[in-house]
Amino acid sequence: MDTRPVGVFDSGMGGVSLLRDALELLPNENYIFYGDNANAPYGDRTEDEILSLTSQAADLLIDHGVKALVLACNTATSASINVLRKKLEVPVVSIEPAIKPACSAPGEGKVFMLATAATTKLARYRALQARMPDPDRVINVGISGIVARVERGEIGPGSMDDILEKYLAPYTGMRADAVVLGCTHYIFPAEAIETWFKRHFSGPCRLYDGNRATVRQLGRVLARNGLLNDRGCGRVEFSTSGDREALLPVFKQLLETPIYTGKPGTVPGEG
Ligand code: DGL
Repeated sequence: MDTRPVGVFDSGMGGVSLLRDALELLPNENYIFYGDNANAPYGDRTEDEILSLTSQAADLLIDHGVKALVLACNTATSASINVLRKKLEVPVVSIEPAIKPACSAPGEGKVFMLATAATTKLARYRALQARMPDPDRVINVGISGIVARVERGEIGPGSMDDILEKYLAPYTGMRADAVVLGCTHYIFPAEAIETWFKRHFSGPCRLYDGNRATVRQLGRVLARNGLLNDRGCGRVEFSTSGDREALLPVFKQLLETPIYTGKPGTVPGEG
C-alpha cells in the first residue's frame, strides 16, 4: 500500500481526458496533474525540445513526491519514454496511438491516425506502425491547430471543421474503417471529428484512443510494484507552468465534460 499520488503529465489539457479514465478505473488513487501549458503545443517542436521539456516536467512531479508517472501525451512518449524510464526510479506508464486495436478490426478501408506532426514523424511511432499486419493501411495525418483550440476549451460541434478540411482534403471520399485519436487533446472534440469524418468518408469511421488501455496498464504496474492505494479518494491537484488562475476553469470544464466514445450502436474503440 502506498498513499503517495500518481503524477499525470501532458503538454497541456489533453491529458485531462486520461485523468478522467483514471478517476473512473482507479478511484482509490490520488493524482497530481501537471500541464506544461506555457510550452504547449509540443507537437510543432523538435524531438530534443520535447525530450528536454518532458524531462523537466518529470523532475518536477518527482519533487512533488509522486509514486508513478503517467505520460498522458503521445508526443512526449514518442520523444522521451526510453530516456525517462532509464533516468527515473519510479515506474513510468505512457500512452501511444491506438493503431493496434484499430488495425485488428477487419475491414477493407483505411485507418486514419490523427496526431501531432511530431508524433507522426518520430521513430518510436514509425516502429509501432511497422509492426502492424498491414502498415500501409494506416494513413498518418500530423495536424497543427487542434491542440490550441482545445487549450481554450473550444471543442463543440464544427469546432475543427476547417482544420480537418485543410489536412484531410486529399483523402476525402475514401473508406475509413477507423479514426485513431493519437493525441490526447483530440479526445475532447471526438464528436466533432467523427461527425466531420462521416460527412466526408464512407465506412464506419470508428474512433479509437489509448486512454483506457494506458490506465489499465497503470493499475497493473502499481499492483506489480506494491504501490496501489486503497485509502485514496480520487483527489486531484492541478499544477501548470502556465497562468493557473486562467487555466483552472478550463481544467475543471474538461474534467467534467462527458467524453464522447462513439455513436450509440457502434463499438467504442480503445487501445
Ligand atoms: N496531448 C499531446 C499528445 O497526446 C500533445 C499536444 C501538443 O502538441 O502539445 O500528443
